[in-house]
Amino acid sequence: MIKQDHNDPLDLIFSKALEGRVLFKNHKALQSDFVPNHLPFRNNQLSSIGQILAPILHSSKPSNLLIYGKTGTGKTAATKHVIAKLFETAQNKKIYSKFVYCNARMSGTEYRTLAELASNIGLSVPFTGLAVTEVLSRIQQFMKKNSLKVVLVIDEIDYLVKAYGDNLLYDITTSSDKISPGFLSLIGISNDLQFKEQLGARVQSRLSEEELVFPPYSAEELRTILTERASIALNPGSYTNAAIGLCAALSGSEHGDARRAVDLLRIAGEIAEREASECLEERHVRIALQKIDQDRVSEALKTLPIHSKIVLLAALYSSKADPTHSSSGTVYDKYCDLCKRTGLEALTTRRVSGLLTELDTLGLVSATVVNYGRYGRTKKINPEISMESATKVFETDDTMKLLLLPLH
Ligand SMILES: Nc1ncnc2c1ncn2[C@@H]1O[C@H](COP(=O)(O)OP(=O)(O)O)[C@@H](O)[C@H]1O
Ligand SMILES: [Mg+2]
Repeated sequence: MIKQDHNDPLDLIFSKALEGRVLFKNHKALQSDFVPNHLPFRNNQLSSIGQILAPILHSSKPSNLLIYGKTGTGKTAATKHVIAKLFETAQNKKIYSKFVYCNARMSGTEYRTLAELASNIGLSVPFTGLAVTEVLSRIQQFMKKNSLKVVLVIDEIDYLVKAYGDNLLYDITTSSDKISPGFLSLIGISNDLQFKEQLGARVQSRLSEEELVFPPYSAEELRTILTERASIALNPGSYTNAAIGLCAALSGSEHGDARRAVDLLRIAGEIAEREASECLEERHVRIALQKIDQDRVSEALKTLPIHSKIVLLAALYSSKADPTHSSSGTVYDKYCDLCKRTGLEALTTRRVSGLLTELDTLGLVSATVVNYGRYGRTKKINPEISMESATKVFETDDTMKLLLLPLH
């Protein structure tokens, strides 16, 4: 037997782990892909999806459906919930139909989305190599031959359309002759409210035979949702109502986003557990909020084009040197210095001014126009993020790393 040394921090960690998780009784229930059995405030949407898909129970083709609403409004959870229930009912009644769910952002390409559909209906296609139209036509032939009745859900469908246009959706929604006596109904889900405008008129009317909008949740609704979720995921007495309320309030008003609320609660729980606290409290939620916001900033920074990164760093330097007089002019001068150091050719003031407006939209800088009467106007520029959070991300970028070093 290994001797336990009470001063050894590892012993403490492992013995705590052996005791089991103090706060969580079901950690999975706070992960974002968890589908709860009960979805409060979504009765109307659940019934609508149910009604639209019900014809499949007497072997008729359900209408195509377009679902949209902001992130975290329950679109994925509600759709999966209805599909699971429908699948169960169909099986019990020995009705042979297939329900296929895929996420376009995860699959990444048209080809992989179709390959997923193929494998789910029992048709094997090579991993790569065929033309997309060829894969679709094999699927259609296979469905015809076997009279397959399929409901296909493409979640985050806007990713496909942004990357490839709407030709595939056109082909899918016009394929009934090629599949009959089988059929394929399509449910498209989009987080992007403007998605419909990116579709051509012919696809628009075919895909949105039926349409469903998921509105954002209020803070009060989020509190109810979260209270239910906490009772599944956390041990009784291991969290305060105030902590739940704070998660709801921080995800309500501005966002209406249940994913953010659930994420906040999970991360706060992990922080409390790591601290070996016996109770999840408001202060844990506040630390979790900082972490979530830092993650959001890092994500936004990572994907910026190089000139925007340099402009942002110039804004940070300019504001550090003199916060009250940091303007589009001082930022531009700094930006030109930085470009020289990287060997990149500087963009014009006009382009940089455009990039500053974009950074403002992303919430990374604030750009306010100040009028100096007859001396003209200028834009006051100050960063909305700290040098530390920018440095964390820029250190991992080869070009930007050089610009973090002090000038000699
Ligand atoms: N009405 C609800 N009741 C319980 N949990 C919900 C509800 N709406 C959303 N959630 C939960 O919030 C998270 C995000 O929901 P999701 O369906 O993924 O949103 P969307 O697909 O609209 O972005 C998931 O963990 C989900 O289980
Ligand atoms: Mg979703």
